[in-house]
Amino acid sequence: MDLPSFLWLWRIAAWSMGLSVTAYGILALSGGWLLLARRQKRSRPAWLRPLHYTIGGILVTLVLLLLSVGLLGTVGYYGNLGHSVHLPAGLTVVGITLLSAWSATRIGPKRPWARSLHVGSNIALLIGFLAVSLTGWDVVQKYLP
Ligand code: HEM
Ligand code: HEM
Repeated sequence: MDLPSFLWLWRIAAWSMGLSVTAYGILALSGGWLLLARRQKRSRPAWLRPLHYTIGGILVTLVLLLLSVGLLGTVGYYGNLGHSVHLPAGLTVVGITLLSAWSATRIGPKRPWARSLHVGSNIALLIGFLAVSLTGWDVVQKYLP
């Protein structure tokens, strides 16, 4: 793979990461609202849950896109994987995101553990995003002139 098309891939990575962090912020706000409404036994607007669910689906899509761009770009350029801690960081973030989405589908009155798992995995996801951004920023330096 030649360098220009390789750079294109990292441009996609940077944009998707910005969108992912934005999605995370909206999810934290709307999720916090859901939690407060439930705790204080107040009603919540009808659109709040579908909004949270839809943005959640977008986050999952973005993270999977980032994974494929990272894997395909690296294999296309080097022919193999595992060039830095960015690989385990990336795989961990994908795993936590899927865990969060799966636990969300389990949330219900009969499954209190699903709520805790959902909230817990989302706190872990914040740390994961931080790690993947820092390590990603680090490897990008190799390609900057
Ligand atoms: C990964 C994609 C995500 C999906 C599919 C998703 C979906 C859901 C669903 C279905 C609920 C239950 C809503 C209800 O009570 O009716 C929920 C609750 C919640 N979500 Fe998410 N969510 C996602 C990501 C996130 C993220 C990233 C955060 C925080 C940064 C978050 C924070 C919350 C909170 C605080 C609650 C309320 C829990 C409670 O009531 O105790 N979610 N989510
Ligand atoms: C959820 C977010 C992300 C995921 C899941 C992800 C995933 C991956 C994976 C699995 C690889 C292959 C690594 C290897 O085999 O060594 C990779 C490579 C790479 N990623 Fe990411 N990535 C993410 C975010 C980012 C961000 C934000 C940047 C830039 C700021 C970035 C820049 C790169 C670069 C430059 C490489 C090439 C690896 C190298 O040259 O060592 N990634 N990514």
